[in-house]
Amino acid sequence: MKNKLIKNICCIGAGYVGGPTMSVIALNCPNLRVDVVDIDKEKIEAWNTNDLSKLPVFEPGLEKLIKKCRGINLFFSNNVEENIAKADIIFISVNTPTKKKGIGAGFASDLKWIESSARQIAKFAKGHTIVVEKSTLPVKTAETIKVILNSSDQNPSGNNGNKNKTFSIVSNPEFLAEGSAINDLQYPDRVLIGGEDDNSIKLVKDIYMKWVDQSKIITTNLWSSELSKLVANAFLAQRISSINSISAICESTGANISEVAKAIGTDKRIGSEFLNPGPGFGGSCFKKDILNLVYLCNYYGLKEVADYWEKVVSINLWQQNRISSLVIINLFGTLSDKKLAIFGFSFKANTNDTRESPSINISKNLLKEGAKLNFYDPKVNKKQILSEFNTESNVSICNSAIKAAEGADAVLVLTEWKEFKALDWKNIFQVMRKPAWIFDARIILDKSLLEDIGFKVWSLGSS
Ligand code: UDX
Ligand code: UDX
Repeated sequence: MKNKLIKNICCIGAGYVGGPTMSVIALNCPNLRVDVVDIDKEKIEAWNTNDLSKLPVFEPGLEKLIKKCRGINLFFSNNVEENIAKADIIFISVNTPTKKKGIGAGFASDLKWIESSARQIAKFAKGHTIVVEKSTLPVKTAETIKVILNSSDQNPSGNNGNKNKTFSIVSNPEFLAEGSAINDLQYPDRVLIGGEDDNSIKLVKDIYMKWVDQSKIITTNLWSSELSKLVANAFLAQRISSINSISAICESTGANISEVAKAIGTDKRIGSEFLNPGPGFGGSCFKKDILNLVYLCNYYGLKEVADYWEKVVSINLWQQNRISSLVIINLFGTLSDKKLAIFGFSFKANTNDTRESPSINISKNLLKEGAKLNFYDPKVNKKQILSEFNTESNVSICNSAIKAAEGADAVLVLTEWKEFKALDWKNIFQVMRKPAWIFDARIILDKSLLEDIGFKVWSLGSS
């Protein structure tokens, strides 16, 4: 076991994390065979498509990697059992949504996919296998995985003393941000590896050392690694809620949020990153991870700590509701029979992911007020947008910005897609009903230029 030679890697879960992460590993480790498996047949077919624009995940730079590695040392399939059996290291990258019912509903993570993956590994793995937690998980999940892997029910060869089937668990959380995933993976700020035995940590570290400088690889115990991931996301989200709370004060006082962000961000201790005000954070991680932290704090009787972090999430929702209310107030207090164009449906630019996107909540608030909504997003398809709403009435999906703006009373910019800056706003003004409003919740447009065209403009964080 000590001198185990790593040849085969398997990743369970071909999603936003598994796909890009394994592509970067395959690129940098040509001597390893990387098999990405998923229970979803359609998704695997999409990963194997010849038309690379149809990959299930849109990430700048991903197509190039797929072209280079797929079929060489990177494979996508539904052969879960066979690839588990073959693997020296198995990464678990399945989704871990917030529980919808039962104990911890609304806060705790639903670990059913982690559990079923662990059961499959226990059943089909051979020899010694290193199991790596890649998905973000509640602290102490490794304990659960360990129990399942070693239970003789799932692992018929038994645990105690059975040298033919053994496991080590390592936590190696992902820190990639969607939209820049390939770059984040190729040039990470750090790689975090937590484990209980030095040998397994070293074997996982050896993979990353093929392209990451040793000084950037941090090793810790299992629990520190699991907790650090939650805390990193909680701190990042906290910065967004902080700056968003200040955006409201700016609007009331005459200060300008972009100026304030710049003024505070130049202080090295504060730093300038992650100070962009907006309609609130979305994505699959921030909310889920903070709620997880809140659940953990309450579990250990730390109510004040739990309340502190929960506020980061409530300010986020407040910001979204505040923006929809402002739209309603400015459009004379009613949206009945008004048409609004929603520019941007992904939770941030450069991704087709819509999980927890602020556009969803804001749009639902507007629909409740009787608005008709025309959506335009450069990368999110019609089916995906419609899946967020119970009804198709009052919802239209357009394939260009100008089409979405036709006859609209207002345009809401909710995602910071670059192409929105370069739109022909004069043309857009002409096709809209007057007074024509723009609500720029991402502060990406030139307010005075738009006002010169004739628009009424609300820009987040300034009066
Ligand atoms: C993420 C991350 O892993 C996690 O850190 C984050 O907190 C949220 O979920 P992500 O890649 O973004 O995963 O999720 P998703 O795109 O939904 O991909 C997960 C994949 O796992 C899906 O394709 C799903 O079909 C697959 N899956 C799930 C399995 O293959 N087997 C299972 O048992 C369950
Ligand atoms: C995040 C973490 O950054 C990453 O390390 C972790 O692995 C997964 O969760 P992701 O959710 O993909 O990544 O994107 P991120 O760039 O962090 O943006 C999250 C949300 O915050 C987006 O909705 C984005 O628009 C918003 N955001 C981000 C702001 O509103 N302002 C900012 O300054 C930065």
